[in-house]
Amino acid sequence: MKQLITTFLLSCAIGAQAQHVMTVDVSRPTAKIQPTMYGIFFEDINFGADGGLYAELVKNRSFEFPQPFVGWMPFGNVTVQDAEPCFDRNPHYVRIVNDGRLLRAGLDNEGFRGIGLKQGEEYRFTAYTRTPDARPMKLSVELVNSNGENLLKKEIEISGNSWQKQTVVLQSPFTDAHSRLRVVLLSEGTVDMDHISLFPVNTWKKRENGLRADLAQALYDLNPGVFRFPGGCIIEGNSLATRYQWKNSVGPVENRPLNENRWNYTFKHKAFPDYFQSLGLGYYEYFLLSEDLGAEPLPVLSCGLSCQYESNEVVPLDELDPYVQDALDLIEFANGPVTSKWGKVRADMGHPEPFGMKMIGIGNEQWDKVYTERLEVFTKAIRAKHPDIQIVGSSGPSADGDKFDYLWPEMKRIGVDLVDEHYYMAPDWFFANAARYDSYDRKGPKVFAGEYASHDHSTGKANNFLAALSEAAFMTGLERNADVVRLATYAPLFAHVDAWQWNPDLIWFDNLRMMRTPNYYVQQMYGMNAGTDVLSLQMDGKPVTGQDSLYASAVLDAPTGEIILKLVNAGSRQAKVQVDFDGLKKRRLIGGSCTYLQNCDWRTVNTLEQEALVPRIRPVQVGEHSLDLELQPRSFSVYRLH
Ligand code: AHR
Repeated sequence: MKQLITTFLLSCAIGAQAQHVMTVDVSRPTAKIQPTMYGIFFEDINFGADGGLYAELVKNRSFEFPQPFVGWMPFGNVTVQDAEPCFDRNPHYVRIVNDGRLLRAGLDNEGFRGIGLKQGEEYRFTAYTRTPDARPMKLSVELVNSNGENLLKKEIEISGNSWQKQTVVLQSPFTDAHSRLRVVLLSEGTVDMDHISLFPVNTWKKRENGLRADLAQALYDLNPGVFRFPGGCIIEGNSLATRYQWKNSVGPVENRPLNENRWNYTFKHKAFPDYFQSLGLGYYEYFLLSEDLGAEPLPVLSCGLSCQYESNEVVPLDELDPYVQDALDLIEFANGPVTSKWGKVRADMGHPEPFGMKMIGIGNEQWDKVYTERLEVFTKAIRAKHPDIQIVGSSGPSADGDKFDYLWPEMKRIGVDLVDEHYYMAPDWFFANAARYDSYDRKGPKVFAGEYASHDHSTGKANNFLAALSEAAFMTGLERNADVVRLATYAPLFAHVDAWQWNPDLIWFDNLRMMRTPNYYVQQMYGMNAGTDVLSLQMDGKPVTGQDSLYASAVLDAPTGEIILKLVNAGSRQAKVQVDFDGLKKRRLIGGSCTYLQNCDWRTVNTLEQEALVPRIRPVQVGEHSLDLELQPRSFSVYRLH
């Protein structure tokens, strides 16, 4: 039957199914829904950070890539130097010499598959400069469109043989997704330059070193309750040396050392030699974003194992101390007083108040004893110093199987608070697993559905409506089991259309635009309608987990007193449903609204040009104690009832 859903029925059929009756018991909520329930997981994959959410437009701004001119096109006499550098952890800089024989000398930056500029928008150019012989010099900073026309030039004067920061704001006279930045030395002589940077002035909350406003807004619009960062596999690294080290990602942005991005060569047929992490979007910025979003921060740290699929390097147990200390120091960075070593670093960056971090993840997709014996060391050390911090362990890379079966009992034995489960499975799996958590052990650690996405292989894993609807159906099961499932985050979050390694992804973007997928809207419909208490919803005395292709859950939103129903009709026919509300006593329903996503064609996708699938909203007529619904074929509906 489930197979039928995806394989044969590609469009809607005429006529309704038989009448269904569902009963919601309003009198006795069955569980609390944590405010963290629906959240987001961010990883720098698919150019999600550098080239994406992080609004820096210049690639390799510090000339620290192994080939220091990657991203740059030097012209004239331009060399890379490192004597008497401006930044000790990013020592390379460029020396530009205009010896008068060449008309000009300088360099262009290509950005991340181009630089996206919008007409009328302002961009802040900054660079560190010096003139070794102390003579005053003139530089031209230029915006060049994709036809090679330098349509905006601004001159800056520099002098002095010690490093100084230059800033100039440029207003773009054109819109172009594939522009370039050019710097030209106009005077005869020598200039040194480092950390050449260009940001939109209009970043999220107008912060310098900020985030792309449209992408951050899209995150905000999800109303996320939790924010897991910074990975994923990048916390493990391709090797231990390239694991994500949070201490490298805080302090002055110019001095954060470059790290390779482990998604550079992961897929041999899709190599990204120019994929590095500037760490400009680092732990301070992640915590700040959590705060902006109203989401609980959930950082994940290396447990002393590099990616077990790749190099599988292991830190010996008697050398694990620095890794454990990183975790303890991170808690101090987030929560410690300004008088503490790491609390002071946070305060010096502009946030004297603690970030109030409550959870920490140890390890990403790890497995076997080599993981559990390290996790145990971390757990003991964190519990001893910070008993209030919740610890998240891993159940490995898949939804079931040997690794999963070994790890869950181990997580119980070690006594972590939450277990991170990952499942990248086919739509049929998501439809078939709406009852996955109905029989989970209520006594052990709670579940964090930390990475999941429906992969429709028949369409090259498109972010299509089939995938989105199967996730919506599955999520009714997360919601019904909110006593055991405490957090859930789709993965991955972002993808640049010209530079992605992994699909599907929640939000796609190019250098100017972004697109919210049908999957995004499913997440948003849950996030905006999370509620506070689970209500029992049954059909024929059972939870609705796929009978006649229907899926359903119900919650109460205590602050507003509203009852919220989530209903999926995955069938090709309209379904008539009568919902009876028990336990309303003297109260009665007076009205409501329905937000819905519907499309008869499973394959429907959104594009940057057009979002074909967006939620629509309509008013709902109610009976005093019941509701008569006609659920459209292939639809996900959220009813909010007053
Ligand atoms: O989300 C993409 C990757 O999938 C994550 O980095 C990893 O945890 C998982 O394998």
